[in-house]
Amino acid sequence: MFTPEMMESVKKVEATRDARMGMEPRRMTAEEKDALLKAFHPDYREDAFDEIRIGPNKGEKAPKELVRLLHSNSRLLTDDVDLNKIDYDVDVLVIGGGGAGASAAIEAHEAGADVMIVTKLRIGDANTMMAEGGIQAADKENDSPVQHYLDAFGGGHFAARPELLRRLVMEAPDAIQWLNRLGVMFDKDPDGNMITTHGGGTSRKRMHACKDYSGAEIMRNLRDEVLDRKIPVVEFTSAVELIKDDRGQAAGAVLLNMETGDYLVARAKTVIIATGGAGRMHYQGFPTSNHYGATADGLILGYRAGAPLLYQDTIQYHPTGVAYPSQIFGALVTEKVRSLGAMLVNREGEAFMHPLETRDVSAASIIRECSERGKGVTTPIGSGVWLDTPMIERIGGEGTIEKRIPAMLRMYLNYGIDMRKLPILVYPTLHYQNGGLEIGGDGFTKEIPNLLVAGEAVGGIHGRNRLMGNSLLDIIVFGRNAGKAAAARAKDVRIGSMNTDHVRDYARALEQAGVEGGGVSPLLLPAYARHER
Ligand code: FUM
Repeated sequence: MFTPEMMESVKKVEATRDARMGMEPRRMTAEEKDALLKAFHPDYREDAFDEIRIGPNKGEKAPKELVRLLHSNSRLLTDDVDLNKIDYDVDVLVIGGGGAGASAAIEAHEAGADVMIVTKLRIGDANTMMAEGGIQAADKENDSPVQHYLDAFGGGHFAARPELLRRLVMEAPDAIQWLNRLGVMFDKDPDGNMITTHGGGTSRKRMHACKDYSGAEIMRNLRDEVLDRKIPVVEFTSAVELIKDDRGQAAGAVLLNMETGDYLVARAKTVIIATGGAGRMHYQGFPTSNHYGATADGLILGYRAGAPLLYQDTIQYHPTGVAYPSQIFGALVTEKVRSLGAMLVNREGEAFMHPLETRDVSAASIIRECSERGKGVTTPIGSGVWLDTPMIERIGGEGTIEKRIPAMLRMYLNYGIDMRKLPILVYPTLHYQNGGLEIGGDGFTKEIPNLLVAGEAVGGIHGRNRLMGNSLLDIIVFGRNAGKAAAARAKDVRIGSMNTDHVRDYARALEQAGVEGGGVSPLLLPAYARHER
């Protein structure tokens, strides 16, 4: 329940609700957005970034926490692994058991490849599972992939790699059909047509959803398909280093059994990094909506082996993370809540922005309201603004919240807050890494033959900001493509003698650059993980 001070503010929100119903707050101009971002978006806090001192992105900046990992050394510097003792030998090795990894494995298997997934937790323990609001695809008559492209390109500050974004939007309708065939239970009207809504920055209603557990429903089906196909899944086992062969091709990975501490060797003709995001790095001390294993592992594996990063300095802070109650601080409050009509209002009950600005602009606007303008609501651990959820019932009719966002309703009811009757408190939460490893349109890295990347570990699909629903889409589109491409390439690959020389080269480069004091990376589990061993 709310504190008496919060309830005082709720009265002001209620007092202004009638006047706000039916009103559409003004959209910001491009100049206003630019100024707002520079002043309040966390990506512009210079002291939160450091320079990368070695490797392909030497001289560029990245969040301090990521730089620390990039400046760390491999476990293999101190632990010996016999690469001649091969534990797994496959055509396609998929590192990561989320939506991108599962999609890749399914398509590689469909193409006849011998494929295996290795994942440090369980299959499905991934940001895919945490995704709520939906997946974009321009498949309605009033829409087109071109329109989708324009929305995403503008929303990403015109920085998306055109060949990647083109693929994303062009293959979106087929991705929806593929998921539908797998059994994903999308929201449909009585005639069986998919129900679609807006997201921030969309000019058409193209968000397909499964209530407010879209990612869980998609992952449920992908996981079932992987298991039905009997694709081997090695769980609780992390990839800790890529293996190359004597021609510099990716040739597998060194794995660490997280339960026994034993190292294992996986030889593979092609390797797909699908390790997901980095929320558990808690950049700038932000809470996160990400799952427990989101620690940027793939970025470290790829970078140490010589693959460049792209846009590693841009992070997405979802505007509406839970600000209160503290037990669920940072959990995602889906953008769908705003799509359904809830407005963002400050302590005084004033609507201070259009609820469906793009995410970076929305997050910066909330931060400004709570800092410079001093119009946030104080919570035990910070501050937040109101998301006026009772408006949803007024707009859509009684029962809309239960029907469209039931998981959110239950999450708050657990803490005695009925969002149908009371607004909820939100503040930005670390949600997505816009940057990652650079790939070409075919999913391969340019620098390391036979190495592909898919999903959140890729940089460049969305530019410097991602629109809602384009991540569930990219894991499917780029996951599927990576699986097909890896299976096709594997037919022509002959693996030479295997080595991890790049690990020693990297250590030497760190030493020559005078970089000291790094720890060990990849991190694998967040810093606050309980280690039994
Ligand atoms: O707000 C959300 O439901 C998140 C969606 C996304 O990140 O795409």
